[in-house]
Amino acid sequence: MERIRIIGGERLNGTIPISGAKNAALPLMIASLLTPDTLTLKNVPNLADVHLLGRILRNHGVDLSMDGKRSTPSPHQGETFHLSARDIVDTTAPYDMVRKMRASFWVLGPLVARMGQARVSLPGGCAIGTRPVDFHLMALEKLGAELDLISGYVHAKATRGLAGARISFPKVSVGATHTAMMAASLAKGETLIENAACEPEIVDVAQCLVKMGAKIEGYGTPRIMIQGVDALEGAVHTVLPDRIETGTYAMAVAAAGGEVLLEGARADLLEAAIETLRQSGVEIASTNSGLKVVRNGAGLTPVNVETKPFPGFPTDLQAQFMALMCRADGASVIRETIFENRFMHVQELARLGANISISGDTATVRGVKTLRGAEVMATDLRASVSLVIAGLIAQGETIVNRVYHLDRGFERLEEKLSACGARIERLTG
Ligand code: EPZ
Repeated sequence: MERIRIIGGERLNGTIPISGAKNAALPLMIASLLTPDTLTLKNVPNLADVHLLGRILRNHGVDLSMDGKRSTPSPHQGETFHLSARDIVDTTAPYDMVRKMRASFWVLGPLVARMGQARVSLPGGCAIGTRPVDFHLMALEKLGAELDLISGYVHAKATRGLAGARISFPKVSVGATHTAMMAASLAKGETLIENAACEPEIVDVAQCLVKMGAKIEGYGTPRIMIQGVDALEGAVHTVLPDRIETGTYAMAVAAAGGEVLLEGARADLLEAAIETLRQSGVEIASTNSGLKVVRNGAGLTPVNVETKPFPGFPTDLQAQFMALMCRADGASVIRETIFENRFMHVQELARLGANISISGDTATVRGVKTLRGAEVMATDLRASVSLVIAGLIAQGETIVNRVYHLDRGFERLEEKLSACGARIERLTG
């Protein structure tokens, strides 16, 4: 069992390279199922979830190869993947694979759109909320797929192909927007998606689909229009920088103090979080090479936050911001509106001495003078990294268990932080 050990109290100074976005890389890899040609993706982050999805895609028949080491100016440019779904030999995504990573359920749309059939396991339980997939199914039914639920698997059929339709989501869903957009790209005729997600990862996937020959307009807004085409082609696409990794390190610097350049980060991908950090007293400025984050001396002003779909404050930064507010000069109120069970980090932060009370979807965080190191563990990716941030400012030693959660979404976390002066290491065995 690997663990992360942190000795708190060091300021962070230096440069942290920002990796490609996990939540764009995953649907981009899935988009390779839509074409028999090769899709080349650059700047793919080296993460457990990416490798797991690679295995799932290979199981469908996708050939996946990676470029070897290159003498590039930066060693942190991510991997280059070549994905080729020339022959899809298996349209089943088994439970044993899908349950390990929910996003792999998203293969359903592309498989039924291209192959006219698919059999994909329901993902099962999740630590942050119930996370149903009804919107995905509704979208595919609107596009003409016949769906059956048999023994925990969704069986989808569209023998004569999918047909364009009007899809109106009752609530904003990133995944269901991906499903609808990818499937509609190969449907006959026109599709209108209403109340679509506007997240930057949707825009990134749409831009890649357009390079592949899809006819999509309005992405980045709640109304996406798609004119279906008969076939898509290969393309070359670079994954956009990870806004959640960016926000996480910005919050780490805000907590620990210091001055760090987040290399390759883009401010336009996380304006709500940047504004929140500025209100709490952190200086953030865009430079030619990324975002500079500075916090010197003075304490942190408490700021209230409510998670919202993009362009609002992201749920994927809620836990990290809570860790930061644990040391603010007063009380802040944090409301989680996207997932109903995303406060699992609260009890662990309390082990470090945080003062947080929860009422329904709202947490009240009363800043304390000191956090003290302890052994902690977390149940999901973002919760784990909030404990790392807390560990950076806690007195003494913090041990974070269940490091596999971190490895799903943060590339070389301890290397990036220790390069800036943090005392953090991975313990193995
Ligand atoms: C994506 O999950 C992200 N995952 C999540 O990141 C992120 O937290 C989430 O979007 C919200 O921004 C990836 O991109 C791989 P949703 P997704 O569908 O698409 C409800 C991380 O830590 N809903 O936008 O699964 C749902 O329960 C992860 O990197 C339905 O009711 O989220 C939630 O309340 C965690 N029915 C809301 O919509 C459905 O069919 C938004 O979920 C689908 C969703």
